[in-house]
Amino acid sequence: MSSKATVVLGAQWGDEGKGKIVDQLANDTDVCCRCQAGNNSDHWIEINNNTYMLNMLPSGILSSGQKCTAVLGNGCVIHLGQLLAEIDRIGSKTIGINNLKDRLLISDRAHIVFDFHQTIDRLQEQQKGSNSIGTTKKGIGPTYTTKVSRIGIRMGDLCGDFKQFEVKFCELFKYLKTHYPSLSQELFDAELDKYKKIADEIRPCITDTVLYLNSQLSSGSRIVIEGANATMIDIDFGTYPYVTSSNCTVGGCCTGLGIPVHQIGQVYGAVKAYTTRLGGGPFPTELTDQWGQHLFETGKEIGPVSGRKRRCGWLDVVILRYSTMINGYTALGITKLDVLDAIPVIKIGISYQLDGKQYTHSMPANSSDLARVEVQYITLDGWLTSTGSVRKFADLPDNAQQYVRTIEKLVGVPVKWVSVGPKREEIMTLF
Ligand code: GDP
Ligand code: IMO
Ligand code: MG
Repeated sequence: MSSKATVVLGAQWGDEGKGKIVDQLANDTDVCCRCQAGNNSDHWIEINNNTYMLNMLPSGILSSGQKCTAVLGNGCVIHLGQLLAEIDRIGSKTIGINNLKDRLLISDRAHIVFDFHQTIDRLQEQQKGSNSIGTTKKGIGPTYTTKVSRIGIRMGDLCGDFKQFEVKFCELFKYLKTHYPSLSQELFDAELDKYKKIADEIRPCITDTVLYLNSQLSSGSRIVIEGANATMIDIDFGTYPYVTSSNCTVGGCCTGLGIPVHQIGQVYGAVKAYTTRLGGGPFPTELTDQWGQHLFETGKEIGPVSGRKRRCGWLDVVILRYSTMINGYTALGITKLDVLDAIPVIKIGISYQLDGKQYTHSMPANSSDLARVEVQYITLDGWLTSTGSVRKFADLPDNAQQYVRTIEKLVGVPVKWVSVGPKREEIMTLF
């Protein structure tokens, strides 16, 4: 009896609460996977007064019983030193998640992020000056660049004959040094030394995850794929060039794990009840007034990977429709509804106007055009009541229910969860 994988994806510009939605599925998950990106991602989950920040490990590893296997698929880019540090950090928490390495499988086809990729990320951002993307400087773009340039190094290379790894490593460094002469030889030597030790430590986790996942699907295991980043920073569909370097949309699940399209089942879109964006690039519904500041403060919108402020604005249904069109959401999870509790009048962006053309389900591909659109809004009355303790949809204030139902109607996708706080239990399931 074969199964289909359940997917959770970010519908906006990231940090929608994907981790929290994945955590709702955790007790029904045998295998939790990441299919793309690296530790540019941060997923926060609060369980029993412990707050976990996961960068690379999929959130399913926190499920009770600690039986869930974590998979980092071929589409991921992984800094092994930082992954091992994350394993130590999560393993040291009081609820004793201490068998992480026994439950972690890393694709032998996943690419390695080296320290010099992170150095290059910083250099590229410096070179771009005022046009910088505002990357997380985790080396994501440079690693995907070496991957598609066919000079990258994969996990399988590290776990085989170290001499061969050394040759590839030297070739990669030589190639990069021609483009970035300031890369120091010391950086190279120190890194090579480090990898001798890391190889032994990580070897037991590295395997053919394509074979593993397909056999798990065939035997009916419950698989959850946890998206990192989000649709609007997808390398193809996002606000290019202000994007990340992987496909954070549904196609990335198949290419990043090696599973067939027909084995994708439910696709859940995580949607923040308003909009935020970390880093540069166009943001049509951005608020720079007191309500933007209110969303920032109430929503605690600081990106922990970089300590940067997230820009805040009203919910934008144009990007939600676009995101739905690409990913085919079967249901949505709306998070952070509680952040709107004290706002008397709430707006939702429903269309854009630019040079006489109206956009309702898509947007100009060119970022400077997108930055010029005029947004049309609808206005709803707020509820001016705290929602944090509500656990049933019917118990939400009428105007809060109305807000959720309006989103459902405008986007055309049912809402399955409404979250009203960061803790695991601060959520309601609608169906
Ligand atoms: P992800 O990257 O999509 O997994 O999202 P993040 O975890 O980076 O960002 C979401 C932030 O909002 C985290 O700090 C969560 O703890 C927090 N959060 C999630 N759901 C809610 C909610 O319903 N209300 C509030 N106030 N905070 C939430
Ligand atoms: P999660 O999974 C929000 C943004 C960065 C930058 C751009 C490119 O937590 O939702 P990169 O380092 O990937 O080359 O940066 O993408 N970005 C994110 N923004 N949430 C994320 O992940 C992000 N991952 C990357 O801020 O603008
Ligand atoms: Mg995040």
